[in-house]
Amino acid sequence: MKSAAKLLTWYKAHGRDLPWRKTRNPYHILVSEVMLQQTQVDRVKSFYKAWLKQFPDWKHLASATNEEVVRAWAGLGYNRRALMLRDAAREVTARSVPTTIEGWRAIKGIGPYTSSAISAFAQKKRVMPIDTNIRRVLGRLLLGKPFPQPEDDELIQKRVDTFLPVRGNYFDVPQAIFDLATDICQKSPKCAECPLRQECPASKKFLSGRVVIPKQMVKKAIESRHNEKPHPDRIYRGRILKCVREATHGVDPRTIGHNIDKKFDPITDSEWVEAMIGRLIKDELLEIRSKKLFLKK
Ligand code: ADE
Repeated sequence: MKSAAKLLTWYKAHGRDLPWRKTRNPYHILVSEVMLQQTQVDRVKSFYKAWLKQFPDWKHLASATNEEVVRAWAGLGYNRRALMLRDAAREVTARSVPTTIEGWRAIKGIGPYTSSAISAFAQKKRVMPIDTNIRRVLGRLLLGKPFPQPEDDELIQKRVDTFLPVRGNYFDVPQAIFDLATDICQKSPKCAECPLRQECPASKKFLSGRVVIPKQMVKKAIESRHNEKPHPDRIYRGRILKCVREATHGVDPRTIGHNIDKKFDPITDSEWVEAMIGRLIKDELLEIRSKKLFLKK
């Protein structure tokens, strides 16, 4: 049996039942893919369903205010993604639903991975969307590299055809790879359980026990952090947003510091909090009305 067929047999028995695997609607696929960036699959499931209930199609989302989408996004983190998704819906409704990878890529906020993912999952394009999971599995299987890097994507893309038959299945195969990456082909893989171990050159290396698993594979994005605070600023910005979201009549910005940080010190921390509020205003998540902070309408 060819590797793709083996993978699909494994997927039938072990694949996850995820709501966005039952649709070919480009809007639904975009929503799922944007939510899945930086958020765990299990967490995304309920948000995905609730979002589609509230904003069932491009038109509904396009007409939503910042405040509405930010409230619907509450709990997913990286809140600018909510505005990006709404702005994408505005572009699509103002023009038309793109039908090519380049067309998707031209929409602000949609990068190479997401444009390939919508094209493959919703529009039957023969392209393999490569995110970190797919890179890890295919880089091992097709290039024999235990820890493939983004520079390897071009070669992976070229070799995908040797793995997928001519009329390849660009829906189930990548979905199966996501699951294989989660269950078996992790950073430290369980090659002995892998349905593709016979054809995977990297599995030989792992099974020989000679591969050293690096502690930190990619340098973590350097996040800004104030003084000795235990979290990066992103976490405190999330807290500011939560605080404003949960207030009924706006929040006095002078009270924010103590609300987001038990150890807030007005002398050393005031400027920091003001700068974070400034950033949230610039990102169009918050606004000031009558000297109080509100979610931007
Ligand atoms: N990560 C990105 N897209 C995914 C999908 N469709 N299923 C599971 N994990 C994913």
